[in-house]
Amino acid sequence: MFNIIIADSYDKISSEAFRILKEIMLADSPVLGLATGSSPIGLYKKMIADHNTNGTSYAKAITFNLDEYIGIPAFHEQSYRSFMHENLFDHIDIPEENIYIPRGDGEDHAADCAAYEAELAKYHIDLQILGIGSDGHIGFNEPGTSFDSLTHVTDLAEQTRKDNARFFDDDIGQVPSQAVTMGLASIMKARKILVIACGANKAEAVYGMIKGPQSEECPASILQSHDDVTVILDKEAAVRL
Ligand code: F6R
Repeated sequence: MFNIIIADSYDKISSEAFRILKEIMLADSPVLGLATGSSPIGLYKKMIADHNTNGTSYAKAITFNLDEYIGIPAFHEQSYRSFMHENLFDHIDIPEENIYIPRGDGEDHAADCAAYEAELAKYHIDLQILGIGSDGHIGFNEPGTSFDSLTHVTDLAEQTRKDNARFFDDDIGQVPSQAVTMGLASIMKARKILVIACGANKAEAVYGMIKGPQSEECPASILQSHDDVTVILDKEAAVRL
């Protein structure tokens, strides 16, 4: 079931997202599922400002990130581990041992994926933050991914590599071609899901997620089967609804 919020600026989108996150932070040991990319950056800025101003503590929070590139070192400037440290973790009081990010630089990806899923299984994500790809991916679950998927290695779609080239000097050749991602079934276990999408290039994917047929061709359409999904959009992303 979707609760849809359309806001007229990115700041308001981020404020709405932060309001929802703050409710989750009232729990004793909140478990947060986190995304990278441009969509949640405003939310992370608000979390940092609130931590600095109001002392909201993340000392007991546990976080699981959705995905990580394969083929670049863990602390490469464009790794998702680096992104999370730069945009959130280095500015709040979350202990390093409470942070889980899939491993993309190991020798045995299958074993690393199984280990990540086993860690996830010890917890229950209270709030999963998601962006959505212009091709309808969530995490890096590209079109065609099984709705039953758990953490796995994935080939990035050409569209995703093009979309992400902006983080790699606009050079698609530098964008990794594979990643490790939580699966669609792993994501669906979260108690509550929050999707943030901005811009006209997300309109088709947002439509597919909410109104399209439920199909593995639009991975985000799996969310039609979840009973607590809030989608926060700008007008451009909502134009087809
Ligand atoms: C990021 C992730 C991706 C992004 C999506 C949207 O961890 O899993 O699904 O959320 O590609 O990216 P942005 O927000 O950069 O448009």
